[in-house]
Amino acid sequence: MSESARDLARKLLAGSGTKESAEAGSATAVRHAAAPNPVTGRTAPARAARGPGRQFTDHPEVAAAVAKRAAIAAISAQSGMPNPLFLPRNSPNDTVIRAMDTDLVNFSAYNYLGLSSHPRVVRAGQAALDQYGASASASRIVSGEIPLYGELEQRLAGMYDVGDAMVTTSGYLTNAGVIGFLLREGDVAFCDSLIHGSVVSGTQWAGCRRINFRHNDPDSLRSVLKMSRSGFDRALVVLEGHYSMDGTVGRVAELAAVAREFDCAVMVDEAHSLGVFGAAGHGIREHYGMAGSDVDIWMGTLSKALGSVGGFIAADADLIAAMKSSAPGVAMLTGAPAPSGIAAAMAGLDVLAAEPERVTRLWRNARLFDAALRERGLDLGESQGTPIVPVIVPGEIRAGFVSAHLLQQGVYAGAISAPAVPVGKERLRFFITSEHTEQQLLSTADLLAAAIALADQLPEAMAV
Ligand SMILES: Cc1ncc(COP(=O)(O)O)c(C=O)c1O
Repeated sequence: MSESARDLARKLLAGSGTKESAEAGSATAVRHAAAPNPVTGRTAPARAARGPGRQFTDHPEVAAAVAKRAAIAAISAQSGMPNPLFLPRNSPNDTVIRAMDTDLVNFSAYNYLGLSSHPRVVRAGQAALDQYGASASASRIVSGEIPLYGELEQRLAGMYDVGDAMVTTSGYLTNAGVIGFLLREGDVAFCDSLIHGSVVSGTQWAGCRRINFRHNDPDSLRSVLKMSRSGFDRALVVLEGHYSMDGTVGRVAELAAVAREFDCAVMVDEAHSLGVFGAAGHGIREHYGMAGSDVDIWMGTLSKALGSVGGFIAADADLIAAMKSSAPGVAMLTGAPAPSGIAAAMAGLDVLAAEPERVTRLWRNARLFDAALRERGLDLGESQGTPIVPVIVPGEIRAGFVSAHLLQQGVYAGAISAPAVPVGKERLRFFITSEHTEQQLLSTADLLAAAIALADQLPEAMAV
């Protein structure tokens, strides 16, 4: 990387912004005097008029995102290294993808069991497209039911041993909409400190309080509940079966038991557990041998191991019935999931049932990769040998450099930086699948160790 690229990167990542964003802040001299607030009687400070189309150019999040993308594009252009972000791809998201006019070994897909392009899954999606068209075209409440939804819901409810289930268009919206529907002011969500952003959005949507406890720590949950539980009406403890940034295994059985001591409901996000944990791939409930009723709301996604798209919850039948008719964003005021996606997810479950050896292969690969990286002295953070493998490379530029360097060598793995992970804990994240070969895993371990050694020689100033 040239000196000027480094300077530019440092300047942009330090937040001095692009020329455009600097200009946006001083776009115009016209100032608006605000009227007094009719409730408080207070008058907001006058602000500069920004003009048509410029209301958000100096919005802090917009400006930061624009600056960051520009910085990464500039580093890529000036260094000649490929930009791993939004990489144009012309193939399914399998273990080998077609991009940059070449074949890349891919570790960026949640396609744990290789189902997204499995012929049975693809054929099921195609058949549903032929029969029902590309879109549900309305919500289920007003547009009539097709049997596919109920069939998948019954299977999911059976897997989690609860009364019923509901499928939705998105895992993110499932967390946000379900929590937004169930909690309100005066209620509280006690969340694992590494909980997914969609749960945080749900608590904001609900207007309830959100209180975090230390990641995966029953003692921390107990002391937080002792201190705070009595100050709220309804309380929901929210956990994940398998944490997506760190590859840690949720201590769901122990944490749910603590929650029960304090009259709390429990919700578990199974996004990265379903298809991964348990000999049959039925998730963290199977892994711990829990009863379905140990948890009030099992939430999951169809978009990861099942190879499709969408979300679901499995829970008590009355709760599901209420949400199916009344919960905004997951059932009401939103279209139903595309029939092809539901049919594909159902076929994904069929393949899982017919070929449980995919789960065995997934774990064999995860353990092999974990051992290979540890042998090479790499820092795997808190990971526990699961198919989510974080490799800590402190510094946003260093992590980005390692990702770009690997890409040049034919390996695609994403770099993750703040705010998704703490500053100083930047990382590359590898998703292992049942379909990776031993040769792919071992040669990637070698390339990765070499790329990190190279990044360690970058000047100290670049560890930003
Ligand atoms: C833990 C967790 N929950 C929910 C989601 C959202 O799922 P979806 O991608 O299906 O919207 C994700 C997405 O990656 C996730 O990692």
